[in-house]
Amino acid sequence: MPPKTFGGNGEWGKGKGAEAKSASAVNRKFSGRNKRKKVIEDSESLSPFPLSSSPLSPFAFRLSPFASVAVIGAGRLGTALARALAARGYHIKTLVSRRAASARRACLFVDPLADTPPAALKFSDMERLPPVDLFLITTPDDAIEETAMRLGEVLGASKRRRIALHASGALSSDVMGSLRVCGCAVGSMHPLVSVSDPVAGAEALGGAFYCVEGDRPATGMARRLVRDLGGHSFTIKARDKALYHAAAVMTSGHSVALFDAATELLARCGLSQMQARRVLLPLLGSTYKNLSSQKLSYALTGTFARGDVATVRRHLAALQSQSLSDTLAIYTLLGQRSLQLATENGQQSDNLKEIALLLEKAVGSRR
Ligand SMILES: NC(=O)c1ccc[n+]([C@@H]2O[C@H](COP(=O)([O-])OP(=O)(O)OC[C@H]3O[C@@H](n4cnc5c(N)ncnc54)[C@H](OP(=O)(O)O)[C@@H]3O)[C@@H](O)[C@H]2O)c1
Repeated sequence: MPPKTFGGNGEWGKGKGAEAKSASAVNRKFSGRNKRKKVIEDSESLSPFPLSSSPLSPFAFRLSPFASVAVIGAGRLGTALARALAARGYHIKTLVSRRAASARRACLFVDPLADTPPAALKFSDMERLPPVDLFLITTPDDAIEETAMRLGEVLGASKRRRIALHASGALSSDVMGSLRVCGCAVGSMHPLVSVSDPVAGAEALGGAFYCVEGDRPATGMARRLVRDLGGHSFTIKARDKALYHAAAVMTSGHSVALFDAATELLARCGLSQMQARRVLLPLLGSTYKNLSSQKLSYALTGTFARGDVATVRRHLAALQSQSLSDTLAIYTLLGQRSLQLATENGQQSDNLKEIALLLEKAVGSRR
């Protein structure tokens, strides 16, 4: 069978050119099932976890014994996962969304060259689900329990061995406990990656780390999926999932929020949103590089790393003069965290103490 190469033509906030570029990148990556997968060496060197991936044998792309999949919740992540798994030889049989139109749109991204393309179903038509081995539940966190219960009603009591995985970082697999009576082993498989569109998302899923947890057959299946996707899996205790997910949100979503607050400051200096993003992004990129290659305290550069007392005083005065109390709060709290890192680095303690006092005063003035 020739290798699969395919693109997409959907909406997810991208122009056609960008999408075509992304799609061809995915195609390049996925063309040739017998190629060895790239091993992500730089992230491995920083990983505290034993990695599930290793340089793969030429047989790595053989079809999984669990090849038929239904994705329930064909949004950003569900569609990207369906696309990435289809390119690895999994048979995506059905995509389910709340609205029929969004399920149909998602199907366009999966595999237009498939002999039997996936069927689009809406949530209220779930009784028409075809038999599959694996259910990937990618509805929003708050809807996973309800989705599992609905799926349980559709499946009924059965001895057939099936697996259901959800993709939430915050919830454990217990939220789908209702599916166990239907013969399903349940688990969760959370990719530590930000997916905002299916094409780039499918590509990003390839090298991602996945937190896997749940019943043994389900975690075995999840690890298998991760390996087939070219990612790396690790596990944590179910009770720690909320804490784990707070870390993910702080790294991804909160970084975006922090960036937004910084662009607002540049807007006050007269830059447009676009200009602000353009000038700040390389700074963020260089920070990412430092984080990837240095220990944390060395990755910290700038005012707090140097202990520049007068500069901190100027920053605080500028923020106070703009009546940006939320941004001032963010600055002072993160400044206190930066001070801890600077201390680890052996920075002059007198300067750091003086900065700590300035920050405390600024926090006090907000109350
Ligand atoms: N996106 C990411 O970067 C990312 C990363 C890691 C993990 N996750 C996890 O993946 C899951 C899905 O996130 P997402 O960002 O892909 O969400 P999303 O883009 O909003 O997609 C949600 C999907 O679920 C359907 N849906 C929404 N509300 C529903 C309900 N009440 N009942 C049944 N179906 C419903 C939507 O259908 P309609 O489109 O028809 O409304 C859509 O197909 C979440 O558990 C999230 O934590 C996401």
